[in-house]
Parts: sequence; structure tokens; C-alpha cells
Amino acid sequence: MSPTRAAARPRAPRGRGRLPLSGPIVAPSILSADFANLAAALGVADPAREWVHCDVMDNQFVPNLTFGPLIVGAARRLTRAFLDVHLMIERPETLIARFREAGADQITVHLEACARPAQVLAAIRKSGARAGLAIKPRTPLARAERHLGAIDLLLVMTVEPGFGGQAFMPDMLEKVRRAAAWRAKHRARFLIEVDGGIAADTAPLARAAGADVFVAGNAIYGRKDPRAARDAIRRAVRG
Ligand code: DX5
Ligand code: ZN
Repeated sequence: MSPTRAAARPRAPRGRGRLPLSGPIVAPSILSADFANLAAALGVADPAREWVHCDVMDNQFVPNLTFGPLIVGAARRLTRAFLDVHLMIERPETLIARFREAGADQITVHLEACARPAQVLAAIRKSGARAGLAIKPRTPLARAERHLGAIDLLLVMTVEPGFGGQAFMPDMLEKVRRAAAWRAKHRARFLIEVDGGIAADTAPLARAAGADVFVAGNAIYGRKDPRAARDAIRRAVRG
């Protein structure tokens, strides 16, 4: 078995019933939610259909500070949904065990934040979590290519990481197309996730380019009826 095929073997987190592990999947980002009512925010994700996206920021890798394993652990106790943890932090290898113990099902690290990305991705898999690799808008796909055979998810940022509510960068669609072409050519099975400015109008563009997972913060939690907003994105990507 080639390394790519071995890496692509789907591994569902244990003991959590039916989880969506193939696209299209909507992932509400709690960054834009009301943390005074985390339970209600998490309730927007149907565990059988959606992931919950958790944005961890350290005020170093990005100019913003959010939360750590404590809140991920609280989320874990409040929902059975797949927890998709996006680490926008320097030296992410130092916190993998903590986030996994807190209940992360998937841990995504930024290529730009890792001195040795292959080792960090291997450590994530060894922890039992699915391993994701994220690239910022100015990072070309070519820089990530050598790792694509060893990941469960590629996160193509469609805004500069750090804040919710920014405008979708349509130039990133080409990167999504190239990643999807690489995946087909190498018969890899990692999912492609887009994050930033995703809403009912932009999600179908990313879907057409080959994306499987659609992170949406402001377009869900910034609306009066977050569940209706989630449904609109769901419909838009399911066609
Ligand atoms: C930004 C975060 C996103 C953020 C997206 O750095 O990674 O997950 O929540 O927010 P929207 O959907 O509002 O652009
Ligand atoms: Zn994110």
C-alpha cells in the first residue's frame, strides 16, 4: 500500500455514533457565536450532518486571541458533533495532547507555524485525532504538496486568518481546484475545507472548485436565525 492510500484510510473517532466524514459538510464556526450561551451555539450543528469548527488563536501567529483546550473541553461536554479544531498558533506541537484530551476529533495546524510539519502531522495522528493542514492565502499549494499524502484534511484559507466577518477571496478558488486535481491524480482522499467569508453565495463556488467542508461563522451566527442560515448554506452546497 502506498503512503498516500494508507494515509487516506478513514478513521472515525471512537464511540460517537454516526458522523459525517465525507462532503459536503457545513461547519459552523463558533468564533462568531455568543460564548455566554455556548450550548445554544453548539446546538446549531446537527451531529449527524455538521462539524463544529473551533478557532484557536494565540495573538502570535495571528493578531487575535481566543480560547484553548478548556473551552474545547466544554464544547465536548455539550455536543456529540465532530469537533474540528483549527489551531492558529505558533508551535502547535506543544498543545496537541491537550487538545486531543479535551476532545478534539480533528486538529488542523498551519504549515506556516510548523518548523517540522511532517512530524507535527504524525503526532496528531498518533494522538488518535484526524490530522489537518492549513495554508494561508499567500502560501502556494506547492509548499504543502509533500504533505498531502499524510493528511485527512487540507484547509485552504479564503481570508487572512485572525478574524471572522471578512470578505471571501475568490482568487483562492484556483488553489482549491489544484488541490482537488492533485487529490484525483494521486488517488488521495483528504477532504478540502474552505474557511473565511463562506456564505450561501460563496460556498457553491468553492463546492464547484472541489471543496468538501464549508466553515461559516458570521454567515450563521451573525444572522437572526442561525439554523435557517445553516440550512441555506447546506442547500447551496448540496445543489
Ligand atoms: C478566521 C477563522 C474562521 C472564521 C471564519 O481566521 O479561521 O474560522 O470563524 O469566519 P467567517 O465565516 O465570518 O468569515
Ligand atoms: Zn477557522
